[in-house]
Amino acid sequence: MTRNLEPIAATPFTDRALVAGSLYAAPDRLAQRTTALHRAKVSGANATDTIAALAADADPAPQMIIDVGCGRGTATVRLARQYPSAIILAVDQSPGLLTVVRDRLSAQHRSTALIAADFHHLPLPTASADLALAGFCLYHSPRPRHALAEIARCVRPGGWIIATTKSADSYHDIDALIATSGLDPGADQRPSLYQTFHTGNAEAVAAAAGLTVQRRVDQQHIFEFADLDHLAAYAITCPKYRLPANLTDATSLAAELRRRAPDAGPTTASTVTYLIAQRP
Ligand SMILES: C[S@@+](CC[C@H](N)C(=O)[O-])C[C@H]1O[C@@H](n2cnc3c(N)ncnc32)[C@H](O)[C@@H]1O
Repeated sequence: MTRNLEPIAATPFTDRALVAGSLYAAPDRLAQRTTALHRAKVSGANATDTIAALAADADPAPQMIIDVGCGRGTATVRLARQYPSAIILAVDQSPGLLTVVRDRLSAQHRSTALIAADFHHLPLPTASADLALAGFCLYHSPRPRHALAEIARCVRPGGWIIATTKSADSYHDIDALIATSGLDPGADQRPSLYQTFHTGNAEAVAAAAGLTVQRRVDQQHIFEFADLDHLAAYAITCPKYRLPANLTDATSLAAELRRRAPDAGPTTASTVTYLIAQRP
């Protein structure tokens, strides 16, 4: 069944060179973006707490866990604490981010297998894991059902996959502000960064990947940016915007925004969706 899955237009989030390069080769952009968003968040449960609780409900004692697209390893570290005797495999295509995960886990006196790999072709045995996470990463795939099917291949029958994503309209008030400022008039017209795997199609994609979705949780997150400096710290990390070439850092972007818009940060929202699925 492929309804709601195609067609898929290219976005910066599915540009392989960008994703493997400036978006994630080094940890700085992801850390700056996460920090700016956390500082702005005024409501909505913590995603790592939610993933940990959903994992505990699904499997109280997994022996092998794969964290696919683990990024800086925030969920990896949490699950390592929650399951002290489990084997944890941290998978990401960015060797730079895997180094951060290694350092964070060794600070907890915990070792992990670090695997630099593309989630469409995992160098892992079939049916080896009890639990796999795919946190906020499948929207980087132009064919997320193939990536999910490959992750499912590595999970034993009856094992669990927790996949998380955001709504396609996430942060659209920021797109609108950037557009009306005149800095990027098309910012609110272009496709969502999350369009290949989002709140609206995630369940259909998981079903097409052969998974049985047992539960889904949708949580509304609200963000209030303090001012244009705060907004610029987030917006400069967002590859959606086509900004003038001289605006390469948050300070110059904030200064330019102040010339064009009232110095008040916008309020915006995102729905975060968690799918708790089983491999049949
Ligand atoms: C937004 S981060 C999410 C990190 C983490 N799961 C979290 O929830 O904080 C997306 C991650 O997906 C990884 N990624 C993107 N495309 C990938 C691919 N084809 N194979 C493996 N990892 C990929 C990136 O390197 C990045 O670390």
